[in-house]
Amino acid sequence: MGRIMDFRHQVSSLGTISTLAVDALLLVIAGEVIEAGLDSKLADSINDALAQGDLALKAGRGLYLHRPAGVKAARVYVSAAGGASVKAFKAAVAHGVNQLKGSGAKHVAVARVGGAEFDGRHAEALVTAVADATYVYRHTKPSAPAASGLSKITLVCNKAQAKSVEEGLVRGQAVAAGVTFARELGNRPGNVCTPSHLAEQAKKLGKTHELKVEVLDRKEIEKLGMGAFLAVTQGSYEPPRFIVARYNGGTKTQAPVVLVGKGITFDTGGISLKPAAEMDEMKFDMGGAASVLGTLRAVAELKPKLNLICVIPTCENMPSGRSVKPGDVVTSMSGQTIEILNTDAEGRLILCDALTYVERFKPAVVVDVATLTGACVVALGHLNSGLFSPDDALAADLLVASQAALDPAWRMPLDEEYAEGLKSNFADVGNVGPRPGGAITAAIFLKRFTSKYRWAHLDIAGTAWKSGAAKGATGRPVPLLTHFVLSQAG
Ligand code: BES
Ligand code: MN
Ligand code: ZN
Repeated sequence: MGRIMDFRHQVSSLGTISTLAVDALLLVIAGEVIEAGLDSKLADSINDALAQGDLALKAGRGLYLHRPAGVKAARVYVSAAGGASVKAFKAAVAHGVNQLKGSGAKHVAVARVGGAEFDGRHAEALVTAVADATYVYRHTKPSAPAASGLSKITLVCNKAQAKSVEEGLVRGQAVAAGVTFARELGNRPGNVCTPSHLAEQAKKLGKTHELKVEVLDRKEIEKLGMGAFLAVTQGSYEPPRFIVARYNGGTKTQAPVVLVGKGITFDTGGISLKPAAEMDEMKFDMGGAASVLGTLRAVAELKPKLNLICVIPTCENMPSGRSVKPGDVVTSMSGQTIEILNTDAEGRLILCDALTYVERFKPAVVVDVATLTGACVVALGHLNSGLFSPDDALAADLLVASQAALDPAWRMPLDEEYAEGLKSNFADVGNVGPRPGGAITAAIFLKRFTSKYRWAHLDIAGTAWKSGAAKGATGRPVPLLTHFVLSQAG
């Protein structure tokens, strides 16, 4: 997981990129024509391919040129972006890197042809796209094909863009390190990535990045009176952990930004057992925890002047003779009693106690992140994370961060009327409502524990991992959260 790729910028005109001593050139074409400025022989090759129909300047299209005339690099990949947006640039870089990563190229120069603005946002997108395209999971699969031979990426820009581009490269590398860390933790199976493993990983991160990391065990969790969290873990042999990790970049009196991540390292559903199909994917149910740790890593590398506290309740959700049963009533740390009508709605149970715990920090803002509901996947699919907040200004900040990070989120409603569904005859609140609007009632449940501070909730059930042939953790929403945390520094 170390940083093996070297990213830098180089000030160079479009006309001289053909003279760069690199193994490959990746040309991202933003416009609909090959404009003047490019070396004429190279421009001729590309225009010829366009005329022959071998290349079209549409997103997703590209052309490989081997030892083209007039170019020092042995390889040129022309990747059409189909537009000048940062998002289009990122997709075209990802496409180009996927084409070049299996070649002999080690050092690739990337240049954009056409398009008006070019700045740090593009540089950040370049780094995260390259990191995403070259990550290989090997922790339990050492036989996985060798990672790409790419080791150095040079982004070509002009003098006026250089400062912003350099900042973007730095930000991108921090975000990429956080995303890769979150992907790696998410991908590790439930028998490796246990609550203790997550705690060890947090401790290790603390050592390398000068963070204060505290880990509470079952006894200490009991002392705090976290009856809801304890109810979820009581059926498991694997012991629970409560992780508190702090980055102190601000003054002592500065109210911290607090992130809370759901850390269910395997969710069987408990006594309300899930069906067998795809149950393996419930190893990803610690995606909230992973993204919080990934964000902590990114922030610790960028060292903004603020305080960040990351809190992770982590355990398994297992069926056993000791498991909590449907209808059991438990007392949360807040004092509110909860009727556990469905043991598969466990995420909100571990989160509610963490949300009460963080009151002690007098937070400036609290954002919780959780693979919370299948209903959120039904509502938003796999593109947008669900954003819930009663605070319009906070929701707006998160949406701005989401857009800047190219990590989409969509705001969902939180009307009080939805609370009706959580009523219980036997406790202050039930842990499930009716199936319709399930992502919203889950958020409404959490809201009951957040009255002391500004709060938002991200449901990442549809975005934390991919299923199918590309099954694996995405590292989302580390980019969104990192941008958000940075935006809170003054
Ligand atoms: N971890 C799941 C949510 C989930 C399910 C994420 C499928 C991604 C894909 C969560 O703990 C859960 O089981 N939620 C239940 C809640 C229900 C019982 C109210 C769900 O969504 O089915
Ligand atoms: Mn569940
Ligand atoms: Zn779950």
